[in-house]
Amino acid sequence: MNKHLAFLSALALSAGMNLNAQNANNMVIQANKIGAEIQPTMYGHFFEDINYGADGGLYAELVKNRSFDFPQNFMGWDIFGKVTLQNDGPFERNPHYVRLSDPGHAHKRTGIENEGFFGIGIKANEKYRFTVWARGENQKIKVELINNASMGETQVITSQDVAINSKEWKKYEVILTPGETQEKAHLRIFLASPGSVDLEHVSLFPVDTWKGRENGLRKDLVQALADTKPGVFRFPGGCIVEGTDLATRYNWKNSVGPVENRPINENRWHYTFPHRFYPDYFQTYGMGFYELFLLAEDMGAEPLPVLNCGLSCQYQNDDPKAHVPVDQLDSYIQDALDLIEFANGDTNTKWGKLRADMGHPAPFNLKFIGIGNEQWGPEYPERLKLFVEAIRKAYPDMKIIGSSGPQSEGEDFDYLWPEMKKLKVDLVDEHFYRPESWFLKSGNRYDNYDRKGPKVFAGEYACHGDGKKWNHFHASLLEAAFLTGVERNADVVHMATYAPLLAHVEGWQWRPDLIWFDNLRSVRSCSWYVQSLYGHNKGTNVVPLTMNKQAVSGQEGQNGLFASAVWDEPTQTYIVKIANTSDKAQAINLEFKGLKKSEKLGEGKLITLHSDNLDAENTLDNPNTIVPKESAVNIEGNTLNTEIGAMTFAVYKFKKL
Ligand code: AHR
Repeated sequence: MNKHLAFLSALALSAGMNLNAQNANNMVIQANKIGAEIQPTMYGHFFEDINYGADGGLYAELVKNRSFDFPQNFMGWDIFGKVTLQNDGPFERNPHYVRLSDPGHAHKRTGIENEGFFGIGIKANEKYRFTVWARGENQKIKVELINNASMGETQVITSQDVAINSKEWKKYEVILTPGETQEKAHLRIFLASPGSVDLEHVSLFPVDTWKGRENGLRKDLVQALADTKPGVFRFPGGCIVEGTDLATRYNWKNSVGPVENRPINENRWHYTFPHRFYPDYFQTYGMGFYELFLLAEDMGAEPLPVLNCGLSCQYQNDDPKAHVPVDQLDSYIQDALDLIEFANGDTNTKWGKLRADMGHPAPFNLKFIGIGNEQWGPEYPERLKLFVEAIRKAYPDMKIIGSSGPQSEGEDFDYLWPEMKKLKVDLVDEHFYRPESWFLKSGNRYDNYDRKGPKVFAGEYACHGDGKKWNHFHASLLEAAFLTGVERNADVVHMATYAPLLAHVEGWQWRPDLIWFDNLRSVRSCSWYVQSLYGHNKGTNVVPLTMNKQAVSGQEGQNGLFASAVWDEPTQTYIVKIANTSDKAQAINLEFKGLKKSEKLGEGKLITLHSDNLDAENTLDNPNTIVPKESAVNIEGNTLNTEIGAMTFAVYKFKKL
């Protein structure tokens, strides 16, 4: 650039900056006031088997109704030739199995074919572990992966024979390696010998599961969970904990021990929404409490199990008889105490021993337990009280989480919060699936919460666009904006988990969801990127950030801006998050006050999440439509004069040198 041009551009720049400075939103960060600690649990995940999140999703089993114990015993199966259902199998809580008998002619066939969950997703040259419990003498079965929609010469993708030679039940295994990728393959098993064979617990898993575990989890999905750096992992869900009736509530004791003997439970999401009806949706408990504790441990997240409080889903039951009478809660309370023993107990205790037998002698170090999900009315605190007393007596250090009901505010909420205070629970679970307008006005939600009461667990939330219930960018921007208020109030809010977590594109009941998948692929929504940006830039302490001496929470006169600042002690970094929810770019002056003369700021970084199209979303076919962009930022002295684009979430990071 010649001297003349350089002068002109410097002039233009300084003129621009003056204009900037005049109209700028002046934000002041009190860099020397290292405030409330941000809990390591602050951002995490809420897991529930909804939208085929477990069976057909995270749980990597590819066979549906593997033990023939769905109420319609052959659901998911086609049977041909001489197949009979038996019910005196080796696993007492899943007693059914099939007998395959000689069809009577060399050219005829007896066999069974499984359709998987919306088909069976297989990848070329990957290994798949087929296992089956079987009995029969001098028998043979042929196990095939077939192309269900084949127009070619043969349907068979890969096939293996398995010799069955045991009078007693025995587990057999063979590895299948398909030479082609198929999203919707089927598993077919023929009897390949004259005679008969009994088959039970027919299973197919990818060998390459998360950490290579048998009975394992789908790797890409766990990776997507772990990649947000979650600090807490709540399970096994919300409504599923309650059950449509008490008989179908999530019973953790049925979800542990040998996988073959975990009884099937119905999944209430198969019929909750008549317009999204999935009659083949059941819970095998194959990914039960042991696997969920292990997953939390793998991700470095605190496990947070939630248990039924003796109330079945109140939305579906207003008859008091649907609930456990207050004087008959003992077994429910015992379930909670036993769960703590299962997680933390010595290996010579009953439940601690089971954990050890399952492969984890070391305790899971459980610190939190939730009792009840979306409950309301006096029937909840009167039951919770008995749990609190028993847990406090046996485990005084356990942190107990109560509920404020299904609504973000209103009558039930206003009734339950004081009740939770009376019971002195440690945290209160709040849920808010709310529209844009709510998120826009709720940046200051926690500013005036009681600092001495129970802490908040924002246990289920998501922006549900008005008339736009999908994972579009605008929803995620407003979640990012709202979270600045959560972060600013980290002395009150100790945990926040977006919900729901997972959804199969062909089998969802509820949306938006954080991560979508089909049988082979998964996609991280733009809300996932918001969670990830918060998870990775959590910091250790809140630092005051104000504009005209006010917190920046999107209130009137604040130009649609939301902001928070944190200090990260291990990396000696200030992290400032700003969401500009307005449709105009905003000039910002970010001034760090209170630094000592010897202290400088440097190594500046800016990460932005933005889309010109508010309705845009990440999809399986276009997973990277909206992803964060990173660039270097120079700060002159202690003030950054900058501009944040319209509808943009920005994270600024400066190291203290
Ligand atoms: O996240 C979906 C459902 O929403 C949960 O199961 C329930 O707690 C809430 O109503």
